[in-house]
Amino acid sequence: MDGNGRWAKTQGKPRVFGHKNGVTSVREVTEAAAEIGVEFLTLYAFSTENWSRPTIEVNALMTLLVETVKRELSTLNKNNIRLQAIGDLSRLPEKTRLALLEGIEMTKNNSRMTLVLALNYSSRWEIVEAAKKIAAQVLNGELAIDQIDNGVFSNNLTTKNIPDPELLIRTSGEHRISNYLLWQAAYSELYFTNVLWPDFRKDDFYLAILDFQNRERRFGKTSEQLSEIT
Ligand code: FPP
Repeated sequence: MDGNGRWAKTQGKPRVFGHKNGVTSVREVTEAAAEIGVEFLTLYAFSTENWSRPTIEVNALMTLLVETVKRELSTLNKNNIRLQAIGDLSRLPEKTRLALLEGIEMTKNNSRMTLVLALNYSSRWEIVEAAKKIAAQVLNGELAIDQIDNGVFSNNLTTKNIPDPELLIRTSGEHRISNYLLWQAAYSELYFTNVLWPDFRKDDFYLAILDFQNRERRFGKTSEQLSEIT
């Protein structure tokens, strides 16, 4: 969800104004995704690197998260949407963590779509943590080194029960992955748009989906092999 700060700047407003308006885009995309049958939608809301932003911006983001989760809880339940989170939640301010955990608990039985918030998340952190967990399992004899494979690795990531993303959208004209779902995005289709996040609406989301539908996903195979299968 990139471009909040630049969007605010174009209006002569502080960066936080961009984040506040970004919440409207969060609502739009969540609604659009659920409507068209997306099963998992993951939003990169705060990276482990974002702590180095000015304190006033970090605090505002944490407060915005609490307010948004609390305010949207009944809408999530009404629409049968389950809330989940990935990242190191233990380092979040207590108020933010508690609001989040409450949201996760109150929506845990919903089944139409899962909305995953990546919070205090970064791929390198997650991969290092997975390596530590696997090493501990080897050390205590639960796992042999030869048993470590893609499946074991995936199961030790914070996305354990979340399928790999089919499509990864980045807004604001930046062409980077920025430490996001590096393992999981191995075969994701990447879509970049110049639209700044607070301007991102349902139609922008549909454009990304239409683009995705015209991609040929080969997963390392040739086009000919794919047409033999289908
Ligand atoms: C990146 O834009 C955006 C963020 C770091 C925060 C995104 C958070 C929200 C939209 C708030 C609410 C989210 C939820 C899920 C309730 P930037 O600040 O890096 O923009 P810039 O690149 O223009 O400076």
